[in-house]
Amino acid sequence: MKQKHFLYFLAAVVAGISLSSCSPKGGDEDSNMEPFIRELMSKMTLEEKLGQLNLPASDDIVTGETKDSNIARMVAEGKVGGVFNVKGVEKIQELQRVAVEESRLGIPLIFGMDVIHGYETIFPIPLALSCSWDTIAIKESARVAAKEASAGGICWTFSPMVDICRDPRWGRASEGSGEDPFLGAAIARVMVEGYQGKNLENNDEIMACVKHFALYGAPEGGRDYNTVDMSRQRMFNDYFAPYKAGAEAGAGSFMTSFNTIDGVPATANRWLLTDVLRGMWGFEGFIVTDYTAISEMIEHGLGDLQQVSAMALKAGTDMDMVADGFNGTLSKSLDEGLVNMGQIDAAVRRILEAKYKLGLFKDPYKYISLEREKSEIYTSENRNLSRKIATETFVLLKNDNNLLPLEKKGRIAVIGPLSNTRANMPGTWSVAADAQKYKTLYEGIRDAVGDKGQVSYAKGSNLTADAELEANATMFGRGMRDGRSEEVLRAEAVSLARNSDVIIAALGESSEFSGESSSRSDISLPETQRKLLEALLATGKPVVMLNFAGRPTILSWESENVPAILNVWFGGSEAADAIADVVFGDVSPSGKLTMSMPRNMGQIPIYYNHLNTGRPKAQDEKFEKFRSGYIDSPNSPLYPFGFGLSYTTFDYSEVRLSGSQMNQDGLIKATVDVTNTGQRDGDEIVELYIRDLVGSTSRPLKELKGFKRIHLKAGETKQVEFTITADLLKFYNYELEYVAEPGEFSVMIGPDSENLNIANFMLK
Ligand code: BGC
Repeated sequence: MKQKHFLYFLAAVVAGISLSSCSPKGGDEDSNMEPFIRELMSKMTLEEKLGQLNLPASDDIVTGETKDSNIARMVAEGKVGGVFNVKGVEKIQELQRVAVEESRLGIPLIFGMDVIHGYETIFPIPLALSCSWDTIAIKESARVAAKEASAGGICWTFSPMVDICRDPRWGRASEGSGEDPFLGAAIARVMVEGYQGKNLENNDEIMACVKHFALYGAPEGGRDYNTVDMSRQRMFNDYFAPYKAGAEAGAGSFMTSFNTIDGVPATANRWLLTDVLRGMWGFEGFIVTDYTAISEMIEHGLGDLQQVSAMALKAGTDMDMVADGFNGTLSKSLDEGLVNMGQIDAAVRRILEAKYKLGLFKDPYKYISLEREKSEIYTSENRNLSRKIATETFVLLKNDNNLLPLEKKGRIAVIGPLSNTRANMPGTWSVAADAQKYKTLYEGIRDAVGDKGQVSYAKGSNLTADAELEANATMFGRGMRDGRSEEVLRAEAVSLARNSDVIIAALGESSEFSGESSSRSDISLPETQRKLLEALLATGKPVVMLNFAGRPTILSWESENVPAILNVWFGGSEAADAIADVVFGDVSPSGKLTMSMPRNMGQIPIYYNHLNTGRPKAQDEKFEKFRSGYIDSPNSPLYPFGFGLSYTTFDYSEVRLSGSQMNQDGLIKATVDVTNTGQRDGDEIVELYIRDLVGSTSRPLKELKGFKRIHLKAGETKQVEFTITADLLKFYNYELEYVAEPGEFSVMIGPDSENLNIANFMLK
């Protein structure tokens, strides 16, 4: 036992607290936590308490000199509660040693990281994962991420990101689960469970952090960090469900968002953090700010660092990421009566409780193992899982004359700026990724074809003709610019295309074209790529477009002109092999969109679960004077929420209901038969929507209320059943009461949000 830890152990024993029994959560063990923490806090100075609230950046820990870093000095002085985004067990071990052996009380640090979609085995970006609608697989991906991250010494992940987004201009749509609160809540729940496992008992279970609380996905104009303003009804009905689900699943922590809500930044919004999150939802963990969110309140115009720090604490924020507001000013605020000791103690207690639940007081080195780091990261087992899940996330948007799947034969040309870039395969927010290990698409296709055919590559175009824009969209070592002119690149590609039998066009976004601070005012294919595509199509060769994207992009022209489009998002470390699996038909695509794909920029924000207007159009395609629409565009998206094709086809029967009336405590079963009417086996995602036909407030035209992913052999029929209870029919009314109002409801089941069979029933 290390020296300080030992002293600590002694003190605890003297105080009658058995450290050996202070294992994480559960039964009798939990009852030890309170006296243990009370005792510890009674020994802490104010400075040490504020230290626990401090989460500084780890930027200076880049060399092997961890122990001489600024952070290490602060840790030794007891001024740090945790550190984040440090990769490597040795560095983490050293910092933990400083905390345990060199600080006065030896309180261990927590080590956080943005393990958003995997550690080194990278899974598809979260938006893509959501398109699998496979909550079992998504949970498994979080489990694997936790196993690898913990093998890297990390015990806390800044995930899941559960912000609902209806605006694809916002670059961080890539990090969330799309536009729907029901699906978003289901995913939030399983991700928390996947990370935290059995109550953080084992050393491969890490603490989740639900973010960004709240409403970060609804910035005005889709511009990152921008103002959010919406009615309470909309918050509760359309945006809050995933956060609430994360809290109810037992997430150990929450992160505040950068935006204002009702004019008050989330980090200082007491209604949000204390009344809603803790009060209404019973959240008992701790709340950390987003990066410098406290000091950013100065720019928001709320006061100086001292004032905004006091506001954040009083609102219910516990930990300050990077701003140095708590550490730097709370002691002065305490003297001046701006905050009180009870408020500081409450925050300190929550952070110590998290450390206790993680088992760090019992063993500060619980997550530290050089052996695990060597053997449990980027294993073939984990990679196989990532590859399998990735195949479920691709969305087949179009497939004229069954151009896909391709045969592994002949001359295959892989063309486009995304064809041969290793660094852009994993997607945004892959902090611990080791891109050198990942295959490019070209390599994946070549490996799949082997000696059965001939695979060649040409770049064809840069990401954009605008070098500055491209530099901004390929930061963090993802650069891929080719110095040759667009004309030269295109000519080379066209000549390769002419000598090929089929063209795989790898186009779209780079990893960092979406993600944080990558809002786009135009989400269509950059012009130079479009010109390349036109030139490839002009050769008369069959063209399969693979659309790389971290958000829904606009593909109106492409959907008219390209025979086959597979939306591949960013599929993670195994994306290249997974794409080959689907392109060549080893796996049939089954992903379905979780964000509507607009026809044009003017339709944004766009989402399926909207209200009716008083003047709806009878036909979406046609303009009607004095009806709600655009004079120059339909209202409907190009590809709706829930849409995705397969290599086979599915047929849906009418919806059968087990009754036509239901009491508030009753249930109705809704059933359909789904038949695989094609020639191949395949997975189908069956979607259930409900409409409340008459309400005390206007109710959405449809809302997702259930989904099932089923496998059907060619020709096979399966009966799919959903159980409807009053709970599924509830919503927040004008008074924000959560009620199911008696009246008529429509039950709709089908393959996507626009193709549905309907049956009605009455709720009494
Ligand atoms: C992001 C968070 C992230 C944090 C720490 C911020 O810029 O908004 O999502 O967890 O940085 O890296």
